[in-house]
Amino acid sequence: MSEPLANLLTQLDDLQQQAADAIAAAADPKALDAARVATLGKKAPLSGMNRFLKDLSKEEKPAFGQRLNQVKKQLEAALAEKLENFEAAGVGPADGLDVTLPGIRATVGRRHPLMQTAERVKDVMVGLGFSYDDYPEIETEHFNFDALNTPDWHPARDMHDTFYTPSGHVMRTHTSAFQTRAMRAMLAAGKAPPLRAMTFGRCYRNDEVDATHMPVFHQLDAIAIDKHIGFADLKATLLKLAEALFGVGAELRFRPSYFPFTTPSAEVDVMTERGWMEILGAGMTRPEVLRHGGLDPDVYQGFAFGLGIDRIAMKRHGVADIRLLYENEDAFLRQF
Ligand code: FA5
Repeated sequence: MSEPLANLLTQLDDLQQQAADAIAAAADPKALDAARVATLGKKAPLSGMNRFLKDLSKEEKPAFGQRLNQVKKQLEAALAEKLENFEAAGVGPADGLDVTLPGIRATVGRRHPLMQTAERVKDVMVGLGFSYDDYPEIETEHFNFDALNTPDWHPARDMHDTFYTPSGHVMRTHTSAFQTRAMRAMLAAGKAPPLRAMTFGRCYRNDEVDATHMPVFHQLDAIAIDKHIGFADLKATLLKLAEALFGVGAELRFRPSYFPFTTPSAEVDVMTERGWMEILGAGMTRPEVLRHGGLDPDVYQGFAFGLGIDRIAMKRHGVADIRLLYENEDAFLRQF
C-alpha cells in the first residue's frame, strides 16, 4: 500500500470515529440532526474526501472509494437507528413542539353515495309514518318466494336467477322477502294493522352485469297495511317519494306490470340523460300474501313497493354506470 493511501485510510478512520461519537452524544432528534449535518452534510470533512482520489494510482482508487462509501453507509445506518430509537421512546425536540411546521391534513371519510341515498329515502319514509327494521340477507325459500305467492313451479321464479347456499337457503333476491316476516312480527308483538314497515339492504341475483345491473345490488322495500287502502294511496306515496328524491320536475312513467305477490302491479321509470330507467316495482298486496302473514284479506288491504336504491342514486347524482358505485375509486367517491 502506498503512503498516500495509508494516510487517507487513517484519516477516514478518524473521521468515522469522530462522527460516531457525535451521533452517540446527541440527546434528542434536533441534536441528532445537527450531528447528521456535521458528519454527512455537504460541508462535512467526510464529504470533501473525494478530492483526494486524484492523488491515488489507478490500482488504489477503488480501495479508497469503497472504504469511503462504507463509512458513509455505516454512519447513515447509525443515524437512522438512533432516530428510530428516539421515535420509539417518544423523545421529541428538546425545545418542544415546532409549531411552524405545516400540519398533516387528515383525510376524512364520508358516506358512500348509495348509503346517502338509502338514508335520504329512509328519512322521507319515516316522515310518511313507516318504521325501519333489518331483515336477513340469507333467507328461506319460504319467505323469499312461497309466502309471496311464488311456489317452486311458478314461472315467476325464473325472473330471479337465484343464488342458493349449500344449506338450501337463498341469498335473498329482493327485500320483499321481509313482507310476511313484518306482518308476523307485528302479530307476535300482540299488535294489529295499521302496519307501515320498511327494510333496506343487499339483494343477490345471477344477473349479467351491465350499466344498470349488478349481481349484488340494494333495494328498499316498504309495505303498508290497513283497512281501506287503495292504489291511490300507493301512487300518492310514490309521487311524494319521487318528488323528495328527484325534485318536482322529474319525469316519471308508471307502467302496468306483473308480480306474483301484488295485483294490480306497476313499475316506475324515471327519465335520465340516457332515456327511461326502471327504478321500482309496486302493487296492491295479494290476498294470498296477507294470509301467509296471518292477516284476513277480507278485513285488510295493503300496498307494497321495492325501490332499486343503486339506480335511484344514479339518477340523483347523474351517474351513467352502476359499476362506478362499486369500484370504490377515491376520486369518484370524493365527489359526493
Ligand atoms: C322486485 O324485486 C320486487 N320485489 C319489487 C316489488 C316490491 C314489487 C313490492 C311489488 C311489491 P324487480 O325485480 O323489478 O322487482 O326489482 C325492483 C328494482 O330493483 C328494479 O326496478 C331495479 O331498480 C332494481 N334491480 C333489480 N335487479 C337489479 C340488478 N341486478 N342490479 C341493480 N338493480 C336491480
